[in-house]
Amino acid sequence: MSTENGLIPALLALPRNAWRSVFRNPLPSSDLARSQTTFANLFLHIHPVKTHAYSLKPWYTMGLGVMAFSLFVVLTATGLLLMFYYVPSVEQAHNRMLDLSGTVAFGTLLRNMHRWAAHGMVGIVFLHLCRVFYTGSYRAPREFNWVVGVLLFLLTLGASFTGYLLPWDQLAYWAITVGTSIASYAPLVGEQVRFLLLGDRVVGQEALIRFYVLHVAVIPLAISLLVAVHFWRIRKDGGLSRPEDLDAPEAQADFPEAQAGKLEGLAPLAKTAKAKTFGVLGMVRGPFNKVGNTPDNTVYSWPHLFVAELFCFALVVLVVLVAALLVQAPLEAPADPTHPPNPSKAPWYFLGLQEMVSYSAFWGGVGIPTVFVLALLLLPYLDRGHRGTGVWFSRHRILATTTFTLLLVVNLVLIVIGTFFRGPNWALVVPW
Ligand code: HEM
Repeated sequence: MSTENGLIPALLALPRNAWRSVFRNPLPSSDLARSQTTFANLFLHIHPVKTHAYSLKPWYTMGLGVMAFSLFVVLTATGLLLMFYYVPSVEQAHNRMLDLSGTVAFGTLLRNMHRWAAHGMVGIVFLHLCRVFYTGSYRAPREFNWVVGVLLFLLTLGASFTGYLLPWDQLAYWAITVGTSIASYAPLVGEQVRFLLLGDRVVGQEALIRFYVLHVAVIPLAISLLVAVHFWRIRKDGGLSRPEDLDAPEAQADFPEAQAGKLEGLAPLAKTAKAKTFGVLGMVRGPFNKVGNTPDNTVYSWPHLFVAELFCFALVVLVVLVAALLVQAPLEAPADPTHPPNPSKAPWYFLGLQEMVSYSAFWGGVGIPTVFVLALLLLPYLDRGHRGTGVWFSRHRILATTTFTLLLVVNLVLIVIGTFFRGPNWALVVPW
């Protein structure tokens, strides 16, 4: 250690020097600095330096994608902490759950947060899918990102379903028994698929370890990878969808904030837009870099986009925390393969399927869900229109919107029937 400046001054300057060694620049106060911060920061640089003002209108995305990602972050953090206590063994799993509530500081809170964030993620990812559908945002050039999204939705369901078994209580055991028996209704390969999932003919130790590995490693890794592709594609597809005519000069009046420079950083931008010139920097395919087609109704991502994202993240953490403090995650008696509850019900998001299975095992469990997922995957390649893209419930897409809504309502009704109106032997009952 050099004694050049003396130990005492070094100690006094330590906090400031430590801070500066991490954050080399002060908070940006000019447009140039804002751009540079967005561009140079490891975590921020996946964002564009400027964002279209339309994408920031709260009613357009409702922040659902960011909320889905926030829930994934909360689940990863709480899940990693839970892994310090959990043991995937049929002898220990249930006791470990009890220990977590009884002896581990904040153990109950941790488990509750993980449970409610998981249910929240299934719901929010689904709502995000609906937002993308109802605004026609799956259409070209975003077809592939929609397909990535569909895979993310299936993986989210998979993550929740595999986690369901881990507490090894009656609810978990029988929900998974019912859920995996639905897979066995597939013709020819059904039994093999079920065996592959369970590693046995019944739900037991082999199933527990398979579900555990899928839940803590395989599925989170796959989600992380696909989320990275998803975000990267948003950039490559030219940002979020918006109505086609929005970037025309006459549409600029629709963004008085941008024109009046009310939002910080906009006044110089409006000037830039007028004075913009283009040089031939390279030959690039895609919607960007075409002279005259570059959106000018943009604001700096720092602070506008980042504040909005931070707000969504904080809201998600708050809601999960409050839910975890107020509502206890269920833990029933230890799994008992000899005493099936009557009726045994699948997790709520599969209750629509279970209800359909009670009418036809093949069509309810396999046929209709497969057709539905295939239809979702093919949708952007069949709907090649442009009119109405970027607008909620556009009248140009009335047929697609009505069909999708009908399917949603049917699924919702089936879930409600399965949850509240089915009793022993799956007979219809009145809940009140
Ligand atoms: C883990 C699940 C997911 C995460 C974390 C995620 C995240 C995001 C984010 C942050 C955005 C940009 C802002 C927004 O729209 O809120 C976005 C856009 C998009 N997402 Fe997702 N998403 C997920 C699942 C899905 C699903 C299930 C679909 C559809 C099947 C989908 C399709 C799309 C499309 C097409 C866009 C571009 C929308 C546009 O241009 O307006 N995503 N996603």
